[in-house]
Amino acid sequence: MKKSLVLFTALTALSSAISVAYANEGMWMPQQLPAIAKQLKAAGLKLDPASLTKLTEFPMGAIVSLGGCSASFVSDQGLVITNHHCAYDSIARNSTPERNYLANGFLTKTMADELPASPGSRVFVTKDVKDVSSKIISPEVAKLVGKARVDAIEKNEKALVAECEKDVGHRCNVYPYYGGLEYYLIKQLEIKDVRLVHAPAEGVGKFGGDTDNWMWPRHTGDYSFLRAYVSKDGKSAEFSKDNVPYKPTHYLRLAKEGVKEGDFVMVTGYPGRTNRHRLPSEVAYTFDWNYPAYVKASGEQLAVIERETKDSPDKKLKYAGMVAGVNNYYKNRQGMLDSYAGSDLLARKQKEHADLKTWINADAGRKQMYAADIDAIEKLISERDAENRRDFLLAYSSPRLLGSARSMYRLANESTKPDAERKSGFQTRDLPRFKAGVAAVDRSYDETVDKALVLNFMTKYAAQASEDRNANFDAAVGIKDGMKEADIKALLDAMYAGSKLAIKEERAPWLERKPDDFKASNDSFIKAAVAMYDESLKREARDEEMAGKIQQAYANYMKAKIAFMNSKGQAVYPDANSTLRVTFGKVAGRPYGVDGTSWTAFTSLHGIEKKATGTGEFNAPQNQLDAIKSSKYGADSKYYDAKLKSVPVNFMATLDITGGNSGSAALNAKGELVGLAFDGTLDSIISDWDFNDANTRDIQVDLRYVLWEMKNVDKADNLLKELRVE
Ligand code: ARG
Repeated sequence: MKKSLVLFTALTALSSAISVAYANEGMWMPQQLPAIAKQLKAAGLKLDPASLTKLTEFPMGAIVSLGGCSASFVSDQGLVITNHHCAYDSIARNSTPERNYLANGFLTKTMADELPASPGSRVFVTKDVKDVSSKIISPEVAKLVGKARVDAIEKNEKALVAECEKDVGHRCNVYPYYGGLEYYLIKQLEIKDVRLVHAPAEGVGKFGGDTDNWMWPRHTGDYSFLRAYVSKDGKSAEFSKDNVPYKPTHYLRLAKEGVKEGDFVMVTGYPGRTNRHRLPSEVAYTFDWNYPAYVKASGEQLAVIERETKDSPDKKLKYAGMVAGVNNYYKNRQGMLDSYAGSDLLARKQKEHADLKTWINADAGRKQMYAADIDAIEKLISERDAENRRDFLLAYSSPRLLGSARSMYRLANESTKPDAERKSGFQTRDLPRFKAGVAAVDRSYDETVDKALVLNFMTKYAAQASEDRNANFDAAVGIKDGMKEADIKALLDAMYAGSKLAIKEERAPWLERKPDDFKASNDSFIKAAVAMYDESLKREARDEEMAGKIQQAYANYMKAKIAFMNSKGQAVYPDANSTLRVTFGKVAGRPYGVDGTSWTAFTSLHGIEKKATGTGEFNAPQNQLDAIKSSKYGADSKYYDAKLKSVPVNFMATLDITGGNSGSAALNAKGELVGLAFDGTLDSIISDWDFNDANTRDIQVDLRYVLWEMKNVDKADNLLKELRVE
C-alpha cells in the first residue's frame, strides 16, 4: 500500500488545484477516494469516503467479482445478486429443450433445489490490495530488456502469488496499472461452489434482446441470484452436497426508498478494460482496422451459427451463450465505429500526443528521461499491431478442440517441471480452470457447428498469400497454397473424423497424460498440437521479446503522461483492468436530444406492456402482463411511483462504467442497494476510449422492479424473506 499512499497524499496536497476533467469521469481505485473526498461529498455521498477504502468493511466487503462480471452479497446466507446476462451461461447449461430454464425462468423453493452454476463459476471476494511495483520491477529487473525482462517479471509475480496463496482458499494475482508503471498484488477469497438460485424468464431477464441491447428506453429485468457455498468449516471448497452457504462478513442492505432523478448514485465493481491512455496509432489501428474486421467476422459467426442450429433446439441451447456474447460485442463495436466516424477523436489524440512531446522536449531533463522511450513505444506498438492484424483470421480458423489439445499438451510439458518453474497459466493452481474448460465443452459444443464455423474462416484464411499465413499452423493442419473451399472441407472432414476429443471420457484423461502419450497418439487434433508445439514456443519467445520492450517503454510513456497531466492540474486514474473500482454520479436522463430525441431517467411497466409482442425478443411472459394489468401498474404496491404512475423498471445515471461492471451494485448516498448496473447507451460507449461527459449514461435495473417482479410474477416468497422484504 506504500506507493498508493504516496499517490493519494500527493493528490490530497493538490486537491484544490487538481481535479478530473469532468465530475462524472473516473473509475477510481478505492484507495484513491480520500483524495477526491471533496468531489464525493459535493456529489452527495453521505458515507465517509475513507470507509470505501476499507475492503473488508461495509459496503466494500459485500462487493464481489464473478470473474468477468460483478455482483454483491445480499444476505448472510451467501446469496449473491448479479445480472441475468452474467448468469446466462449457468442458466443455459442447466437447460434442456424439455426443461428450459432459460425460456421459462428458474426458481428454487429450498436450497436443496439449487443447481451448480456453469463449470468454473467462481465468487471472488477481494481481501487485500498491495502495491508491489518495486518488487516486480526491482532494481535488477529494471536493468533487463526484452524477454529477459518479461521472464524476470513473471518470476517475481509467481513468487508473490505463491507466497500469498499459502493462505489456502485464496486466489492472488498481480495486476499491472498504467501500462506496467505500477503493479498491485490482489488477494481474493475464491469461492468455488457456486449455485444457481433464481432467474426470471428470458422474456424478462433479456427482454428486448439484441434489438434493445445498448439502447434506451430500456425495460430489461437483467437480474438473477446465485449462492456461494463453502465447506462446513467455512473454507473454500469444490462442489459438495455437504457444503454450506457462505456467511459473508458484510452484505448489502436494500434501500427502503428508491432513487429519483438527480440523486447521488455510485457503482462499485470490476470494470474490465478501458483505453483512455492509448497512443494515436492504437486508436487508428483499432477503429480503422480491428473493430471493422471484428464486426465483419462476428456477423459471419452469427450467420453460420444461425444456419447450423435453426432446426435443433438442443444445438441452439448449446450455442446460446456464445451467440449472446458475440451479438453483444458485434453491436458494441459497430456502435463505437459509428461514433468514431463522425468524431475528431483521432485528430485530438494526435494533438494531445504532440503536446506531450512538445512538453517533454521543452526541458532538457524531461527530454533525457522520456524522449527515447516515446520514440520506441511508437515503433513497437506499430509492429505489434501489424502482427495482430496478420493473426486475425488465424484465430477464427482453429477448431475448438485443436485449441484444447494444444493447451493440454502444453500443460503436459509444463507439468514435467517443478511447479514454480512452470509457465504462468500452467501451474498446479491453474488445473481447476483446465478441468472446468474440459467439462464445459459438453453443453457448449457441437461438431457440425464448430466445423462450419472453421470452414467459413479457414477458407478465407487459406486464400491469403502465404506470407500472411502462419506456416506452422498450415503445416500441422495441411493447408497449402491455392486451396479452395472444397479442399478445406475435405481436410476438415478428415481432421474432425480423426479425433475422439469431442467425447468427454476420451478428453478428460489427457489432462493427466505425459508428453510421450501425446507424441504416440493418433488423434488428429493431438497430432496437430504436437506438430505445432516447437514452433509455437519460438513464436512465444519472440512475442515476449517484444512484450519486454513494450513494458519498459510504455511504463515510461505513462509516467510522462501522468506528469504532463498533473502539470495541467488534472488527476489521473488508471485504465480499467478488471480490478475493484468505484465510480460515482447521479441519476439523470438526457434532456437535450441527439437529433431530436430526449431521454427521461426512468422507464416503467407501461413500456413493457407497450413493447410486448408475445414472441421473440419482446416475449414478456403472459403472467407478467396479467400482473401488470391486474395490479394497475403496481398501484397496490409499495414500489409504485406516483409520478411514473407505475413501478420503475430501468433508470439511467451518469456513471462511468464498462464491460465487467455488469451486475455491479448501484448504491445510494448511504451505501444501500438501489439497482444493478447492466448496460450503457450505444452512442456513448466510445467513452471507453474517449470519455464524453455530456453523453455518457449507464443503465440500471431498478431494485423496485426486481422486487415487484419476484413478488407478483415469480412468487419468489422464500427469497424475498431472505432479502428481508416484507
Ligand atoms: N450490453 C450488456 C453488457 O455488455 C450485455 C447485455 C446482454 N444482453 C443481450 N441482449 N445480448 O454488459
